[in-house]
Amino acid sequence: MSAFKTVRGMRDFLPEEAKIMKYIESKARKIAELYGYQEIIMPVVESYELLAAKAGEEVRLRMYAFKDLGGRMVALRPEFTPSVARLVATTLKNEPKPLRLFCLGSLYRYDEPQRGRYREFWQSNFELMGSSEPEADAEIIMLTNSLMEAAGLENLVFKVGHVGVLRGVLSQEGLEDKTENEVLQFLDKKQYDDAFRLVEDAGASQKCVKALQKLVGLKGSKVFEIINKMKESVKDYEKAVGAVENLQKILMFVSESGCEINMTVEAGFARGLEYYTGMIFEVYVPELDVALAGGGRYDKLIELFGGESTPAVGVAHGIDRIMLAMQRQKTRLKAKEEKKVVVIPIDDDLKSEALKIARMLRDADIPVEVEVMGRKVSKALEDADRRKLNYAIIVGEKELKEGAVVLRNLTKREQNTVKIEKIIETVKGKSRP
Ligand code: HAM
Repeated sequence: MSAFKTVRGMRDFLPEEAKIMKYIESKARKIAELYGYQEIIMPVVESYELLAAKAGEEVRLRMYAFKDLGGRMVALRPEFTPSVARLVATTLKNEPKPLRLFCLGSLYRYDEPQRGRYREFWQSNFELMGSSEPEADAEIIMLTNSLMEAAGLENLVFKVGHVGVLRGVLSQEGLEDKTENEVLQFLDKKQYDDAFRLVEDAGASQKCVKALQKLVGLKGSKVFEIINKMKESVKDYEKAVGAVENLQKILMFVSESGCEINMTVEAGFARGLEYYTGMIFEVYVPELDVALAGGGRYDKLIELFGGESTPAVGVAHGIDRIMLAMQRQKTRLKAKEEKKVVVIPIDDDLKSEALKIARMLRDADIPVEVEVMGRKVSKALEDADRRKLNYAIIVGEKELKEGAVVLRNLTKREQNTVKIEKIIETVKGKSRP
C-alpha cells in the first residue's frame, strides 16, 4: 500500500499545536464561566435542511452533505448556530430566558484550503437567547474581547455593522426577503455595483439606491460620527433609523463599560450568513487578512425552526485562526509550568517498585513517566534531558533497602538520596533533599 496522507484540507495537530489549541479552548471555557454561559455538546451530523435553511449561499454550497445509510439527507455541521437554535426551539423551549449557551468543537466547510481557511476547523461559540436589549449585543462583543485578550492578542480591530439598517431600507422599498438576501450577499463580497443594479431591477427608487451608495461609503473608527452620518443617510426609512439608534446604544454600552475596544463602523458591512437581523461584527488583527471571530443578532431563526419568537445574539471564535494570530504575534502561553518526573528502575526486579512510586506521585498530582524501553540508566537520563524533564527518580536495590531512591534534579544536574515519603514534598519544592 502507498503511504497515506491526510485528506486535502484536513490537518494533524502535533503536540506543540495541540497545546496551543487546548490553551485557547481553556481560555474560552473560562470566559464562558465568567459570563455565565453553560456548556452544551452538540452533534457533528445534523439534518441538511436545518443547516441549509439560513446558511447563505457561501456556506450552503460548501457543506459536506450526504445521504446516510437510512436515506436521510444529512451534513457535517458548518457552524453551531442552527443546532443551538434547534435546541432552543424544541427541548429547551420552556426554559426561562435568558439562556446563555456555549459550545466548542470542530466544524466542516469545503472551503479552498489556504492559510487560515481549512475544511475542518474549531470554534468556541456563544449564544445569548431571549433578549432583544442592546446590552445583550454589547455583552457578546465584550466577551469576545475578553477571550482575545485572555489569549494574549494585541492590536485587535472590531469591525461592526448593522444588517437592520440595510434591511430597513430595502424592506420599506418593498423588496422581497429573497432579493434582500441577494443584495446583502453582493455587499458581503463588496460587489457594490451588482448590489445597486439588483436593487434597481427589483423596482426600488433612486432615493433608495442613493441611500445605499452613501451607506457603503461610510466607514471609520470615529464610530459615533459615522453613526450620525448613517442616521442622516437613511432618514426617510423609519426602520433603518431605528436600527442605527440600536447600533448607537450597543456601542455606547461597550465604550461606557470601560472596555477599550478598537472599533470601526462600516455601514455597508454584511456577513455571508442569512439569518442576521441586527448588529453584526468581525474581529481582525493586522497580521492576518481573515477574521478571527464573527457574530451578530438573529431574531427570527428560532421561530423559523418551529419555536416561539425568541430574539438571539451570538458569536463564534475561530480557534485555528486565534492560534495563527498568536503565532504571528509571538504570544507566550501563560501556563503554570509543572515539574515533570521520570522514574527509572535500575533492573527488571525493580520495575513494579518503579510503577508503585510513579502511582504515588501521580496521586499527588505530579506528572510522571516511567521508563518503559528497558534502557540503561544513562540512556534513559539522556532521553529525559533531551525532553527537558525536571527530575529523574532512579530506583536501585541499595537505596530501596533503606526505603529511599536517588532523586536527580535534571536542571541543576545534581542528585541526592531521598526517603520515599519525602519525594513528593521535595519535587514540589517544599523540602530540600
Ligand atoms: P462565521 O463568520 O462563518 O460565523 O465563522 C466564525 C469564525 O469561524 C470566523 O470568523 C473564523 O474565525 C472561523 N472560521 C470560519 N470558517 C473557517 C475556515 N474555513 N477555516 C478556519 N476558520 C474558519 C459563524 O459560524 C456563525 N455561526 C457565528 C455566530 C454565532 N453568529 C451568531 N452566533
